[in-house]
Amino acid sequence: LYKKIKRWIKENKQSIMDIFEKHRNKPYPKHVAFIMDGNGRWAKELEQERSYGHMMGAVHLVEIITDCFRNGTQFLTFFVFAEQNWKRPPEEIKRIFEILYKKIKILDMEIDYCNFRILVQGRLDRVPKKLRTILERVQEKTKDKEKTVIIALDYSGRQEIIRACKRIMASKSDITQDTMQNHMYVKNIPDPDLIIRTGGEKRISDFLLWQLCNSELYFTDVYWPDFDIVEFKKAIADYQSRERRYGNISRC
Ligand code: FPP
Repeated sequence: LYKKIKRWIKENKQSIMDIFEKHRNKPYPKHVAFIMDGNGRWAKELEQERSYGHMMGAVHLVEIITDCFRNGTQFLTFFVFAEQNWKRPPEEIKRIFEILYKKIKILDMEIDYCNFRILVQGRLDRVPKKLRTILERVQEKTKDKEKTVIIALDYSGRQEIIRACKRIMASKSDITQDTMQNHMYVKNIPDPDLIIRTGGEKRISDFLLWQLCNSELYFTDVYWPDFDIVEFKKAIADYQSRERRYGNISRC
């Protein structure tokens, strides 16, 4: 295995260096959001259970989070569980919640070293009580940290919009961009600059429907468990090569 890794680095060294070089002086997006797709197919190719893919999908998170916060990104959102995912077999749902619980437990135990706050975007009332309790606790414990990791859990973009409209109507206010913004699950968070979807599908799947108005979209065929720091740097380089116009004319 050691020889294999050494050969891989030797063969890929130039392209890795190119990626790092290309965006050395350009800023990272302020907010990056991830649709982490392809865990099941990744596991199937290895003749493993789908849950193995979810477990391995949590492996690269630390290096991606660390890289982002070191390079100027302030907000990260991970689509961990969609409202639509309730259609999956109960055993798989249980495993996803267990994996998330274990990751959050580690964070909770090492909370003094955690340099970001955790926010949940979505519903906590339908997830297992143990998970709900620990998420409420880490949200409270990390609330004063500067950087932010958002966990989209039991989340639906459409439901978020409906919920916001209902709340605004109940308060007898006008429905405006500002009031909508103030009634989203998480407040005072800038819209994502970049949304990355792994796993080959080119769709949004009910994710951040309100917030993605001006987001850049990046789709890759790479399955989420294979989406390591090199793949992430490729996504960043691609983002940095784009011209963001927000409806304005091209500067070229
Ligand atoms: C989509 O792949 C992935 C999910 C529904 C679950 C994502 C959850 C994790 C990676 C667990 C840990 C997360 C954190 C933030 C600690 P899929 O099952 O739809 O894959 P497929 O399209 O190949 O079937």
